[in-house]
Amino acid sequence: MTPNPTYILAIESSCDDTGVSVLKNDQILSNVVAKQDIHEEYGGVIPELASRAHQANIVPTVDIALKKAGIRKEELHAIAFTQGPGLMGSLLVGSSFAKSMAMALDIPLIAVHHMHAHILAHFIDEGQEKPQFPFLGVTISGGHTQILKVNSFFDMEVLGETTDDAVGEAYDKTAKLLGFSYPGGPLIDKYAQEGNPKAFVFTKPKVEGLNFSFSGLKTQIMYFLQKNIKENPAFIQENLADICASIQHTIVSILMDKINHAVAQTQIYQVAIGGGVSANKGIRCALEKEQESKDWKVFIPKFEYTTDNAAMIGIVGYYKYLDQQFADATVVSKPRIEI
Ligand code: KG4
Ligand code: ZN
Repeated sequence: MTPNPTYILAIESSCDDTGVSVLKNDQILSNVVAKQDIHEEYGGVIPELASRAHQANIVPTVDIALKKAGIRKEELHAIAFTQGPGLMGSLLVGSSFAKSMAMALDIPLIAVHHMHAHILAHFIDEGQEKPQFPFLGVTISGGHTQILKVNSFFDMEVLGETTDDAVGEAYDKTAKLLGFSYPGGPLIDKYAQEGNPKAFVFTKPKVEGLNFSFSGLKTQIMYFLQKNIKENPAFIQENLADICASIQHTIVSILMDKINHAVAQTQIYQVAIGGGVSANKGIRCALEKEQESKDWKVFIPKFEYTTDNAAMIGIVGYYKYLDQQFADATVVSKPRIEI
């Protein structure tokens, strides 16, 4: 019989953030993220440094999450952790810790798919309306760009995905060309708010069906900047807001074209976004406009559930707990896993 309430501790360590959350059923008692600033100076995540920082952060982060939740570890009913996809060294720190803790407390271990978690974060209960199955899930992060048909908590079909770079990568790589430190996506978003989105025109890639491509855009922006800097060395500084607004406008319109296409193809009018790029003001605003003008229901996560966090791992953990989907100590971390 399922205990009520069920307390679950969740661990997220797929990339460069160490996240730990404690849930009481489908509600969040604590959600702590230890950020790793060390990668900023390198312009991207260095895997070896990320796993070492996870090792240093995991024990204190678990401790803080339990204290904030007001729960003793002996009261926990299960430990959920990110199985993948992600960086192998980072995943191993979280999974080894989760296995040891579950074994020591003699409670079940639950393996969670990171991308399922980005979508199912919409089921964290904060009194809001939740999506009804089936709905369209759009994962937009530093590693993924997918449109999914979400049939149930555990059944998702990929309708389209990127054929090269992820949308977050496109943001971060173009941001690097503009001289921003990693991750530059939020900075492009910030400067875009003050600029003219039509100041510069970039061509959108022609990609079949519901798939995406972002690598051409990055190259196009690189040549555009090189040409203009040759004529005016201060081109970036003098036009920063307009450049950012034009890049943002192009990326958002690539995403919106495909989302519109997916709605038309499936006749599913509920769209839920997830992943780091779902924090972006441009995509949030474009989706809200569609909701006002068409018969759509749009689900946009709260800011703290957009970039990597353990609360989203915990909510999947909770539904897997109800379904008794437990892992044993032989479960392996997977840098790549299919949806
Ligand atoms: O989901 P996430 O935290 O990690 C992955 O699973 O990849 O996503 C991180 C990505 C980075 O590429 C970051 O630049 C991007 O999300 N990002 C943004 C914004 N906030 C985060 N991109 C554009 N606008 C934002 N406001
Ligand atoms: Zn993520």
